[in-house]
Amino acid sequence: MSQITTKARIGLVGLGVMGANLSLNIAEKGFPIAVFNRTGSVTDEFIAESGDLREALVPTKTYEELVAALEAPRAVIIMVKAGGPVDAVIEALTPLLEEGDMIIDAGNADFHDTRRREAALREKGLNFIGMGVSGGEEGARHGPSIMVGGNPASYETIRDIIEAISAKHDGDPCAAHFGPDGAGHFVKTVHNGIEYADMQMIAEIYGLLRDGAHRAPEEIGALFERWDKGPLNSYLVEISGKVLQTSDPETGKPMVEVIVDKAGQKGTGRWTAIEALTLGQSPSTIEAAVAARSWSSEKETRLAGAEIFGTEPEHNLTLPKETDFEQALLVAKLVAYDQGFKLLKAASDHYDWGLDLARAAEVWREGCIIRSALLDDMAAAIRNGLPQDQLIFSADFIAHMKTGLPALRRVVSYATSAGLPVPALANALAYFDTMRQGRGTTDLIQAQRDFFGAHGFERMDGGEGQHGPWHG
Ligand SMILES: NC(=O)c1ccc[n+]([C@@H]2O[C@H](COP(=O)([O-])OP(=O)(O)OC[C@H]3O[C@@H](n4cnc5c(N)ncnc54)[C@H](OP(=O)(O)O)[C@@H]3O)[C@@H](O)[C@H]2O)c1
Repeated sequence: MSQITTKARIGLVGLGVMGANLSLNIAEKGFPIAVFNRTGSVTDEFIAESGDLREALVPTKTYEELVAALEAPRAVIIMVKAGGPVDAVIEALTPLLEEGDMIIDAGNADFHDTRRREAALREKGLNFIGMGVSGGEEGARHGPSIMVGGNPASYETIRDIIEAISAKHDGDPCAAHFGPDGAGHFVKTVHNGIEYADMQMIAEIYGLLRDGAHRAPEEIGALFERWDKGPLNSYLVEISGKVLQTSDPETGKPMVEVIVDKAGQKGTGRWTAIEALTLGQSPSTIEAAVAARSWSSEKETRLAGAEIFGTEPEHNLTLPKETDFEQALLVAKLVAYDQGFKLLKAASDHYDWGLDLARAAEVWREGCIIRSALLDDMAAAIRNGLPQDQLIFSADFIAHMKTGLPALRRVVSYATSAGLPVPALANALAYFDTMRQGRGTTDLIQAQRDFFGAHGFERMDGGEGQHGPWHG
């Protein structure tokens, strides 16, 4: 194929880490692709380093050249910084496109922006696809997990490309169309929320083993490596094991010991929590993970707190067994997924998306950051129907929960007695205990509300809008 005689099947704007790797992936799968980057020298460098894939790449230096290089109907992927830059690229492309052409935002967009952009472009006769891509640099290059939202007919015209570049699980593409407008970006947002919770829980277990069991990072890494061969088998446990067993080439110290304990966040975890609250949900493990990252940034405050209060003296605490930590992580992780799927269901009902939750679990089995052996069973459990929309109530997971819960209790009890923070693990336990408590304590909350605000309550023996004899 030649770039002079053959028009490109698809175009891409933004040759940052993700865009460059996604372009090479598309080219490698045999689809000619026209590329454009705002800073032209980045395009030159990208082309110079493209090696054998050069023939399938069409470098362009203006939006006009990019659009002219595409076969109709045109499809252009945008892979730039989320937010304003996406709107800027859409604004530049729109006047150059024709009715029936398509823009695909493959960045981490807030799904509300995707809904807004889809509606605005639809008015102009253009199709807009919001496409969540997970798997980082490596995934983009060799097979990411892809979550698509938008007009299904327009997705059909690029489905062969998207499925070809996606990760595969036993031959099944980890790419799916989930619903209209923002559905794909929402599934990606919740994916990232679960990712936050999973990472936080692993970090909490690491903290207990480091500060409670006084184990060295490489020992903890070796333990994670062993766990990765069992039910906890997952990308995040695997890389945590590797990270903890890596030394700093400069000092020879464990790498984690030279890294400042302040975490960054680009917003997707926070978006998950905000959207959940808007929908009347509370994925407490994800909220705890977002909180933990925010608290981590308050390094000076934490150092001052350590100075004032010191560390909690150890009162002959019994350290949980290694298997307790493993089991605790497993059940807490199940709770995080349970909350994530419940949120997907709530959003699907609210926006009338008809999300296929089992398909989400399947699409996450390979290519993405939360890929894990458990997802296959989760997909099957969801297909069988979740009692009360609760993954942890499904027959496939009740045994896991019953076995692991005592371990999670021992780990959280130990952590609280030792003064070691485990916000995500503790929230997983609190959520579980709440969901298994047939008679809760909100009777008192309702009475308080009625006492000070005459808000009314429902009586056990029937009748809504009832009031108590509080004021004589
Ligand atoms: N990095 C990851 O692991 C990862 C994983 C999943 C999803 N994502 C998402 O994928 C998207 C791309 O991420 P990234 O890490 O590859 O790159 P990024 O750092 O978010 O963005 C870099 C790209 O954006 C372009 N850009 C910025 N402002 C622009 C504007 N106003 N007009 C046109 N182009 C503009 C840059 O062009 P110049 O070269 O001219 O500056 C560059 O090509 C983001 O939404 C990100 O959240 C990233």
